[in-house]
Amino acid sequence: MKILFLIILLISSLFALPEEFDKERYNLGEKIFENKCSQCHVKSMPIPLLMKNFIEEDNKLLNLKAPTGNEISFRLKQQLGNKDDIEFHLMETADFVNDYINNPDKAKTICLPGVIRHFDTMPSMKGKISDE
Ligand code: HEC
Repeated sequence: MKILFLIILLISSLFALPEEFDKERYNLGEKIFENKCSQCHVKSMPIPLLMKNFIEEDNKLLNLKAPTGNEISFRLKQQLGNKDDIEFHLMETADFVNDYINNPDKAKTICLPGVIRHFDTMPSMKGKISDE
């Protein structure tokens, strides 16, 4: 559970790091992302470039293996919780990512249809992330 919190931290902090969170935790989360997620997920790319890639170029411009971290983060912010209640948003985000990395299912996606259609469902990370 601790690990998942870190992942959430990472994902939500790609946009803005809330004051409440310390740098150490953030760095650990980043390490996990680099080790376990970055083989498929690029961390961050400009949204207009991504949109051009996915919507106009059929993902042939960037040939991405998965939606980028900032893209997922952006969608999570739009779709979950309440913008004005960051704690609630983080809890909802934690639940979503926790569930998704263990039981991925494209039916649960928060991504744009024009983006998600380029990908197969992500492999489950069950047992791949230790509870350090
Ligand atoms: C083997 C490649 C691969 C790895 C490794 C991987 N992912 Fe993914 N991930 C994908 C693909 C492909 C998608 C898009 C399809 C989907 O949503 O299932 C995705 C989608 C997602 C989504 C969005 C789900 C949605 O559709 O709304 C989240 C959140 C996510 N990944 C988190 C992670 C985290 C956290 C890790 C590391 C612990 C990780 N992924 C590792 C390939 C991967």
